[in-house]
Amino acid sequence: MGLDKLRTTLKNKEHILELKTPIIGASGTYGYNDEFEDFVDFNYFGAISTKGMTLEKRLGNDGERIFEVQGGMINRIGLENVGIEAFVKEKLPVLKSKKIDFILNIAGNTIEDYKQIAHIAQQNDIKAIEVNVSCPNVKTGCLEFGLNSEGLFGLTKEVRKEYDGFLIVKLSPNTSDIKLLAKAVEDAGADAISAVNTLRGLGIKIDFDGEKFYKKSVKGGLSGPCIKPVALYMVEEIRSAVNIPIIGMGGISKLVDLFEFISAGADAFQIGTANFINPSICSDLAYELDDFMVKNNFKDFEELKRKIREA
Ligand SMILES: Cc1cc2nc3c(=O)[nH]c(=O)nc-3n(C[C@H](O)[C@H](O)[C@H](O)COP(=O)(O)O)c2cc1C
Repeated sequence: MGLDKLRTTLKNKEHILELKTPIIGASGTYGYNDEFEDFVDFNYFGAISTKGMTLEKRLGNDGERIFEVQGGMINRIGLENVGIEAFVKEKLPVLKSKKIDFILNIAGNTIEDYKQIAHIAQQNDIKAIEVNVSCPNVKTGCLEFGLNSEGLFGLTKEVRKEYDGFLIVKLSPNTSDIKLLAKAVEDAGADAISAVNTLRGLGIKIDFDGEKFYKKSVKGGLSGPCIKPVALYMVEEIRSAVNIPIIGMGGISKLVDLFEFISAGADAFQIGTANFINPSICSDLAYELDDFMVKNNFKDFEELKRKIREA
């Protein structure tokens, strides 16, 4: 069992993240992974990024949280999660015993929150964390750090002090200059950047019953195929500003999407919204990518990236 051509190493100085394949399940779309293990083959996932973890348990937002729009969805989950203590006690042993590769996605209201979670990740030998500074669905923290290069530099530096594993910072597309943010993150010692998180969006549905109009609306984070051109733009901008690896995401659902993200500068991928249509999309795309590489005599993923970037 294995797709050997897809082995991928993300590397920055002495920090290395080995991935079985470059395809990672995006945060928020696989819970803590234990919910999916009965019907999804995790062997072909590079890893799964967990639901965003905060210091304390969060119940998330009330009311409607998911709203389908053309080409994607809007979510306003509000970072519902079990909290880091329960994660370490209940979820981590399952992930470790089943050898499921994962990245811990973390979020907070204050720098202190992020530091404490990073410290706990270090103590528990968690191999990689993804610092979410880009969630548009919470009232405080998170995105406040993510849209200001000085704040982001300071936050990343503090997290780096606490955590010596592979440190990924996840950027928001809701900014006028993502290059500045990317540079700040690299300068502060992050090992990789993941991009993008959701875009701010508003979904409105108007019905008419012959007499009266009825409105339903949800404001939150837009994701799915409709954001792909924005995500590609952001990845290319980041690539022009930094040398560390980039994990690209935003609307990936097909093999050619992977090629487009490689062309823009991505070294690995995350897939989110497409899981709601096909929970096996990550392993399906890993198979498809492997098959393409075998049929077309690519030696490894590095060679594929190089050839695509020559185009
Ligand atoms: C329902 C849902 C929940 C999400 N929760 C998180 C989260 O907890 N932390 C995070 O960093 N990103 C979260 N995201 C953002 C995704 O990880 C991803 O960045 C975004 O959806 C773009 O990729 P996609 O178009 O493939 O979905 C969430 C997205 C969705 C759709």
